[in-house]
Amino acid sequence: MTTATPITIKINQPEPPPADDHRFMFNIDQYLVDRLIAYHHRHHFTCAVETGTYKGHTTVGLAKLFPKVFTIELNPEFHRDVQPRLARYPNITSLLGHSPDQLRNVIDQFSYPLFAYLDAHWHENWPLRDELQILLTIRKPKLIMIHDFQVPGRPFGFDAYKNNPCNLDYLGDILPHDECKYAFNHRTSPHSANRGVLFIEHLLP
Ligand SMILES: C[S@@+](CC[C@H](N)C(=O)[O-])C[C@H]1O[C@@H](n2cnc3c(N)ncnc32)[C@H](O)[C@@H]1O
Repeated sequence: MTTATPITIKINQPEPPPADDHRFMFNIDQYLVDRLIAYHHRHHFTCAVETGTYKGHTTVGLAKLFPKVFTIELNPEFHRDVQPRLARYPNITSLLGHSPDQLRNVIDQFSYPLFAYLDAHWHENWPLRDELQILLTIRKPKLIMIHDFQVPGRPFGFDAYKNNPCNLDYLGDILPHDECKYAFNHRTSPHSANRGVLFIEHLLP
């Protein structure tokens, strides 16, 4: 009599993600990851939204930190190509479209306190002001982090569109200063992309 060798058949079960799948989060800036974790200890975020998915480097890091993550990408190829990576994380909802449109579509599914990471750029239409205006109308506590921001007095990289540097002059008129607490990054991690960041704590009762 022969003994059958037990075999395991897996159907449509993604492999577990590598433990270091999040290592490119925030352009490999561990200092920013640590800052976010410190904010998380203070606010206990239950949900995150990212604009600009690209390859999902930050999306997977957010999925390891927070129970629910939404990410929005305009480029159909980027959106398609990242699906296998994101499929390993059941708490990620990946959306294709222009970020302000998709923010309006999913706003009812957010929970609070919310962490919002605004990183959608590279195309003709820069959605940052529209994204901010949508998020700031939500009368719930949130932390908004804007990547590629011009930090006064620091040699960090930042973006500019149509001669508008990404800075407080560009956004100041839409920010409710009396409801917000602002902070920049004051250093970057070695080997990171050395980019500036603005944190906006929109602290509402
Ligand atoms: C710097 S990359 C994002 C990087 C990603 N957040 C990360 O941390 O790895 C910018 C992305 O924003 C996307 N994007 C540009 N405009 C957009 C828009 N209006 N809505 C959504 N995504 C947009 C680009 O296609 C690109 O994939």
